[in-house]
Amino acid sequence: MLREKYIELINKVNSDPYRLHFHLMAPTGWLNDPNGLCVIKGVNHIYFQYTPFSATWGLKSWGHYSTENWIDYTEHPIFLRPSVAEDIDGVYSGSALVENNKIHYYYTGNVKYTDKKYDYILNGREQNVIEVISEDGFNYEKKNILLKNSDYPQNMSTHVRDPKVFKVEDEYFMILGARTKEDIGCAILYKSLDLKKWEYFFEIHSEKKYGYMWECCDLIKIEDKWFLICCPQGVEQEGINFANIYQIGYFPIDINFKEKTYSLGEFVELDRGFDIYAPQTFIDNKGRNVLIAWMGIPDATYTNNKTIKNGWQHALSMPRTLKRKGNKILQEPLVEFENLRKNKISSTDNHINFLASTFEMIIDIDNSENFLVKMEDVKLSYDNNIFSLEMQESGEGRNKRSVYLEELKKLHIFVDTSSIEIFINDGEEVFTSRFYPNKTKINIEVFNHGSCSYYDLDEFKIDVE
Ligand code: FRU
Repeated sequence: MLREKYIELINKVNSDPYRLHFHLMAPTGWLNDPNGLCVIKGVNHIYFQYTPFSATWGLKSWGHYSTENWIDYTEHPIFLRPSVAEDIDGVYSGSALVENNKIHYYYTGNVKYTDKKYDYILNGREQNVIEVISEDGFNYEKKNILLKNSDYPQNMSTHVRDPKVFKVEDEYFMILGARTKEDIGCAILYKSLDLKKWEYFFEIHSEKKYGYMWECCDLIKIEDKWFLICCPQGVEQEGINFANIYQIGYFPIDINFKEKTYSLGEFVELDRGFDIYAPQTFIDNKGRNVLIAWMGIPDATYTNNKTIKNGWQHALSMPRTLKRKGNKILQEPLVEFENLRKNKISSTDNHINFLASTFEMIIDIDNSENFLVKMEDVKLSYDNNIFSLEMQESGEGRNKRSVYLEELKKLHIFVDTSSIEIFINDGEEVFTSRFYPNKTKINIEVFNHGSCSYYDLDEFKIDVE
């Protein structure tokens, strides 16, 4: 019965013209954060928050894809699902660390009490850190409960989640995103010498309150500089900045793990688009620092009703390699996407026009005066140093997002039926968004002094295990 229901759902989902071609989506239903990114036996494993039978949130499990070359994928059965009292209301987000050929996964077991009235901030919720160990990425023996609410510092609310574990020299650290009882967003660190016993280490917060909750924290080193990536909730919009309901970004951080000291720089937004949240990084099978995020965001006013009615919602972003320029993180699409290119068309005309649905476009800009790109009702413009992505009806409630640029030199754009990712000036800024054009082939017009190349793109090959 369940099987029949699933096949019916799969057929409905797969016939949706808004399905994406080179992004990972939930096979059916809902997807949110990427989880457990890791490499075992030369293969990249990508897990994700998954609710197969509901396109609008629900009980979370970890779905699973793997890939060696970022173009050919295998879809695997669900890896983790709620099965013990400590994760009964959801296998929430988490990470993976490979040590001695074993993958240690760490996730938040969510428990929500319903027996009386709770506020679910100070009470009514358990967020347990749970570990499973696997040799292959598919099987594990048991769930080990590592930390419970009572192990978190006294000043924490019941919102403490999304463990990310990493190694520095020969010590292991776990970072968790948290909300204090006074509604201050922060991160807390635990330390272990053997991956068995975890001890509270210290709290990281900004000098001035920066939102009430930090989700999906990740502490990473890019070319010798540390960054605390996180998703603060409760940050006020300031002009064109922090325009989404929740933020995705990073604090450059000087951190000394021996002395337990740190100093945070200013928060920088990682992506200026409408649909981006919950990033996770890992070192992929080619040794690169790769970031994947959820191409979606919770609690936004704009919608994805067009896909919900076909039984699915959301996707993962294109994987991006991370580099740095000073204290700034640069993001570039993985070079493997070049393998999806079909035909190339180049032009130096000041005005070009073509029809496409799934394509890549590289625009080199010699002079940014009169620069404009139109894709049906979607507009990319640059005026007085402000680059903007603007949409009308196809935005389903999305309107305008902008960023300040010293200059506009280059755009690298990927459109995948109902998504757009724009990499500006070799990854200095990125805009990731969904949009829902009412035609399969959209009319693209580029007004530019410089050159423009575009390619139709092939799709990922996804085998189902
Ligand atoms: C972020 C998040 C995480 C949580 C997960 C639940 O999008 O809220 O903090 O673990 O999603 O699906």
